[in-house]
Amino acid sequence: MSCSEGLSPFSPPSARAVKLPPPACAGTLSVDQALAERRSVRRYADDPLTLAEVSQLLWAAYGITQPLPGIPELGGGFRAAPSAGALYPLELYLVAGAVTGLEPGIYRYRPGPHDLLDVLAGDRRQWLCHAALGQTMVQDAPASLVYSAVFSRNTAKYGERGRRRYVCMDLGHSAENVYLQCASLGLGTCGIAAFHDDAVRLVTRLPENEEPLYIMPVGRLPQKKGARG
Ligand SMILES: Cc1cc2nc3c(=O)[nH]c(=O)nc-3n(C[C@H](O)[C@H](O)[C@H](O)COP(=O)(O)O)c2cc1C
Repeated sequence: MSCSEGLSPFSPPSARAVKLPPPACAGTLSVDQALAERRSVRRYADDPLTLAEVSQLLWAAYGITQPLPGIPELGGGFRAAPSAGALYPLELYLVAGAVTGLEPGIYRYRPGPHDLLDVLAGDRRQWLCHAALGQTMVQDAPASLVYSAVFSRNTAKYGERGRRRYVCMDLGHSAENVYLQCASLGLGTCGIAAFHDDAVRLVTRLPENEEPLYIMPVGRLPQKKGARG
């Protein structure tokens, strides 16, 4: 089964965008199994990720599940993760090093057209690893998701309460989706919040109005026993 009916029909991809394969809704692991199996994984097999896996992870994180092209403020429609006031303050970047069918580089995810917009060419995993206080899983993983937030999208409506509470609540919902989607795909991830903000900002070329919040390296589970953790 495909979830492509959840993708917005508008927002045509730009010339510098990489179209992602449509996400699937055919996973065989139940939600309760995924919850039971989810763990933070810091070591990965050497294999690359596929573009289909990357597509699935980004869709689970923030993809469109109910297109609403008549309401442009929604950026395409309701998402896989809830958001206070449906304001969707988060942005997602992919720092790709070893993804089959994708040039190494940094990309910004666009939920509406479900594509990746080119930000910077080249394998930047080592830079991101330095920015993340040398946590080697960032360098070893084939790719990392990097979350940032445009706080003003939320604070314009909710003020300080939005800044102190809602944006990070949104992030938690989305990041847990990534954890569970990884469990379902036989992949591993680990949420990382310990990093130098300015360095992550620099590596991922974040615009002025975005603040980095979370890094989630993703890789295939290693074969060896005891490799988790
Ligand atoms: C907000 C947050 C920040 C975290 N930051 C880091 C981090 O910087 N480095 C790391 O190795 N793990 C990090 N973790 C992962 C936790 O260490 C992990 O969730 C915890 O040990 C429980 O293990 P489990 O996720 O396998 O249940 C973070 C988790 C959360 C929720």
